[in-house]
Amino acid sequence: MKRVLSGIQASGQLHIGNYAGAIKQFIEMQDTHQMYVFVASYHALTTTRDPEELRANTRQVVIDYIAFGLNPDAKHHTFIYLQHDVPQVTELAWLLACVCPNSMMDKAVSYKDKIAKGLTANIGLYTYPILQAADILSVDPDLVPVGRDQLQHIEITRDLASRFNNLFGDTFKLPDHRLREDAEIVPGIDGQKMSKSYGNAIDPFLPEKQLRKTVMKIVTDSTPVDAPKDPDACTVFQIYRAMAGADDERTHALADRYRAGGMGYGDAKQALFELIMDEFKDARARRTELMKEPRYIDEVLKDGAVAAREKAATVLRRARAATGLDAPATGVWAPPS
Ligand code: ADP
Ligand code: TRP
Repeated sequence: MKRVLSGIQASGQLHIGNYAGAIKQFIEMQDTHQMYVFVASYHALTTTRDPEELRANTRQVVIDYIAFGLNPDAKHHTFIYLQHDVPQVTELAWLLACVCPNSMMDKAVSYKDKIAKGLTANIGLYTYPILQAADILSVDPDLVPVGRDQLQHIEITRDLASRFNNLFGDTFKLPDHRLREDAEIVPGIDGQKMSKSYGNAIDPFLPEKQLRKTVMKIVTDSTPVDAPKDPDACTVFQIYRAMAGADDERTHALADRYRAGGMGYGDAKQALFELIMDEFKDARARRTELMKEPRYIDEVLKDGAVAAREKAATVLRRARAATGLDAPATGVWAPPS
């Protein structure tokens, strides 16, 4: 059975871009793959300064993974864990940092994007892709399902792994990325990439009224109701297509209504709102139940941490030995397991 690893930052409430770009794939893959899905809490610390907020967001991502349909049941061989429960990852990141040329980080777009958005630069943000490479390589995965914006990070991971292997001998397995076939970047209500940190996201767990209000706020142009419209140029349609799928008949039907004219953007927004309510009906109900079961969440995270630490300790031992950083012969010291 192939192994899969992926993660999402604990930097705010998950949104339908995270779902369409990443989580939907996790759920599709879980019956046939061994899944290591984690909450990138160390990564969130590159931008979060409020401990209570980080704690709450971290916990919420776990609950929402399960609400969306991940099943962390031993039978399902799906592990959910917190990045900071696997400290081996940060040590691996150091080993990788020592083979990473500065130019590789200078070229990383996520850093440039965040700085362009006004976030204050820090070294954690700058070396973010190295930590991500460590997350990935720490469990020897075959596949990393992500949204399109993460492709560069997977390339950096492969690059760092092969540099390390060339310098120190075969240590890391090179994983492949996996994108949904019709993968697109889901736009937010302002038309830019939907992101937790841009204030433009649609949270599928909002109370119904607020959810509807958010959908109605999606920015559209001023084409009159009667005029034919280009669906591909409209944010409402782009979000609809990402949710329903590009080949879905509902998507084709909505595109036809755009082109025919006579449909206002309000109607398209109503169709999107109904799609979201329908798609997340079960997830919304499950989430309400999960919020009442903190002990179950603790158990899930404990099992996940044990499984991830075990894998990471093996990989770290391999990487240490390759570089000459073996444990001393006295056996006094051993990496944390
Ligand atoms: P955010 O930008 O909201 O902080 P993350 O960077 O934590 O989200 O992304 C988590 C996962 O969700 C990644 O695999 C990413 O590719 C995917 N993702 C995030 N935003 C989008 C989007 N707007 N469209 C498609 N996929 C997305
Ligand atoms: N950088 C990813 C994002 O913003 C989150 C992430 C951290 C991740 N480590 C990872 C994704 C490892 C996949 C694999 O979405």
